[in-house]
Amino acid sequence: MTQKTLHFVGISGSLRSGSFSAALLSEIVAMSDDRTQITAFSLRDVPLYNQDLEPTPGSAPAPVLALREAIGAADGLIVVSPEYNWGMSGVLKNALDWASRPAYKSVLAGKTSLIITTSPFPLGGVRAQTQVRQTLSATLSRVVNRPEIVVAHVGDKLAGGHLTDEPTRGHIKAGLADLATEVARARS
Ligand code: FNR
Repeated sequence: MTQKTLHFVGISGSLRSGSFSAALLSEIVAMSDDRTQITAFSLRDVPLYNQDLEPTPGSAPAPVLALREAIGAADGLIVVSPEYNWGMSGVLKNALDWASRPAYKSVLAGKTSLIITTSPFPLGGVRAQTQVRQTLSATLSRVVNRPEIVVAHVGDKLAGGHLTDEPTRGHIKAGLADLATEVARARS
């Protein structure tokens, strides 16, 4: 029996050009194979949330509609976030708030999601994990339950622009496999 190729979309919670989170997401995109196609969606053009910009349920500026379409079309969502002041970045929270509309009926409702945090420091952004999980749970997303994927000393692990650290590669691949398993479970 031929197995269906799964499509995951990833978002990075950092917009800066030299972002480690975005670089890590690029390396995750490069982990695509015959069974799993991974793409990245940039949050660069997503405006700050303003309810005036959604006069009717589901309406939104074009970049937000594109974000919702990308998440809606994907089998699973990968969130890669830096830690800012022990929480997620405002960029990520803003994007999740936009994507969460209309409430409880959005593209995030029922969407299986995987959380990855990064930091140049030793804790790997672990303190942001709970916050991202809580926000995704509020949207009714199915967050994969597994040991946290944190990438500490992320700059060292991306030296030369590629994720050469084998334990980290293995950890992320295990997370992607768990995401695929949860997508299948959600559909069974
Ligand atoms: C940070 N940084 C940071 N790092 C961390 O491990 N825990 C933290 O709580 C914070 N807080 C924080 C707040 C703000 C406002 C900034 C700008 C930065 C450092 C952060 O991890 C570092 O700048 C990363 O390189 C940001 O991620 P990207 O842009 O490389 O993906």
